[in-house]
Parts: sequence; structure tokens; C-alpha cells
Amino acid sequence: MTQHTDINKDTLPKHVAIIMDGNGRWAKKQSKIRIFGHKVGVKAVRDTVEGAAELGLEYLTLYAFSSENWNRPKKEIDALMELLVNTILDETKTLMDNNIRLQAIGNLEDLPEKCLQNLNSTIEKTANNSRMTLVLALSYSSKKEVAQAVKSIVKKVQEGELKSEDINEDTIQNHLFTHNIPDPELLIRTSGEQRISNFLLWQIAYSELYFTKILWPDFRRENLFEAITNYQKRERRFGKTSEQIEKENA
Ligand code: FPP
Repeated sequence: MTQHTDINKDTLPKHVAIIMDGNGRWAKKQSKIRIFGHKVGVKAVRDTVEGAAELGLEYLTLYAFSSENWNRPKKEIDALMELLVNTILDETKTLMDNNIRLQAIGNLEDLPEKCLQNLNSTIEKTANNSRMTLVLALSYSSKKEVAQAVKSIVKKVQEGELKSEDINEDTIQNHLFTHNIPDPELLIRTSGEQRISNFLLWQIAYSELYFTKILWPDFRRENLFEAITNYQKRERRFGKTSEQIEKENA
């Protein structure tokens, strides 16, 4: 079992993003309804957040609800929203005690009133916490995020605030929900599926991808540590050659 002491603290990723997947399949395996899987998934969230903070990550982003998830049966959506409201309420004290800041990305205006109120209240309360930032992706779609960024850039050009010839990669980056968050160096997906599902498409241009068969409710900090030790064994070349990277690191 990988411990956090096995990890080289000098080459820690600043930001790890996780696609939490497999709650439904986990519940099915226990002959339980899907929402039971989501409920047990909260335990995995708690342990992973604690492990990430203990390790010294600066940002942890969790894909909690996609824009496409609104197409699930109403019963499951309602139960998930209730779970989110309760979890945010229950965990606010722990976030404060552990000096963790909460942020959220996505089309938050789509969330039910109560969920949004609790979310905003915890975001405000934790705004000055500095140990780690926990980012929840809620009602999130990467394609929508990019489309919205383009829309606001066009508006600025039309209003004379920005010249079209000055638009570059930074302009796009600065108009994303994640404008104040560094790109993740590592993206983890649980449950054995190997796809990105409309998550952080721009931001993961150079992220290392790590797929594990573990279903989200079974995921624990040791699994995060294992993903990070795997990441630390990789050579990140950003288009350069191995020899160039070795020279830079010498
Ligand atoms: C994916 O499993 C999981 C979700 C869509 C919801 C994740 C939510 C939680 C873990 C609970 C609350 C989270 C927070 C941050 C408080 P799935 O339902 O797609 O599983 P399946 O692929 O096996 O059907």
C-alpha cells in the first residue's frame, strides 16, 4: 500500500483533478440502488481530500456533476443534489479546521437554489483558507466553458475593450472558469473507463492521465498516493526530447 512517505515532496503535482466514476456500478454490485453508491462515494471524497491536504497538494478538483448528468432520472438528480447540500453543510467545519478553501466551477446558476446558497456560503466562509483549494466541478461542461469564454472575448472586442489581433492562448485561459487555478499536472479517472467526458479539455492539454479500475466508493488516499508515485516516474517532455529534459534537470 502506497504511503505519503513514499512520495517525493519536491516533485509533487500542484493540482490533481479526479473524474469520480463508478458509484452506480459499485451499488449494483451490492444489490443496492444507485444513490447508495453516491452516499458511500462521499466517504471516498472525504478521505481523498484529507489525503491530498496531508500530502501538500495546492489544488484538488473533483468532477461531482456534469452538465450531461442533468439527463439522469429525476429521482437520482434530486438525491444527488440533496447529498451535495448536506455534504457541503456537514463538511464546512472540517474545511475550516483544515484550512481548506472551497471553490466551484461550472454553470452554477443551474443548481437548485438551496444547493447554490449553501455552496456560496461555504465558498465565502473558506475564502481566506490557504492550505489547499478544493474545487468542485458542478453542472460543468468543458465545451460550454470554452464557448462562454469565446462569447465574452467577442463582447470585449465589440465594445472596444480588446483588439482581435491581441487574442492569444492567455486570453482564452483568462476567460475560463479556471482562470485563477493552475492547470492540473495529473488527471485521475476511476472505474476503469478511459475517457475524458467533457472535463477540463483546455486545461489538460499537458496533464498526465491515470486510469484505475477502482470504483469511486472504494477509492482512498492510498490510491491517490499510488497515482502520484506513478506520475512521478513519468518523464514530462512538453514536446521536447528526452536529452533536452535530462540536460535541464542536470
Ligand atoms: C459517477 O458515478 C459519480 C457521480 C456522477 C457523482 C459523484 C458524487 C459524489 C461522489 C457524491 C457527492 C460529492 C461531493 C463532492 C460532495 P456514476 O453514477 O456515473 O457511476 P456508474 O458509472 O457506475 O453508473
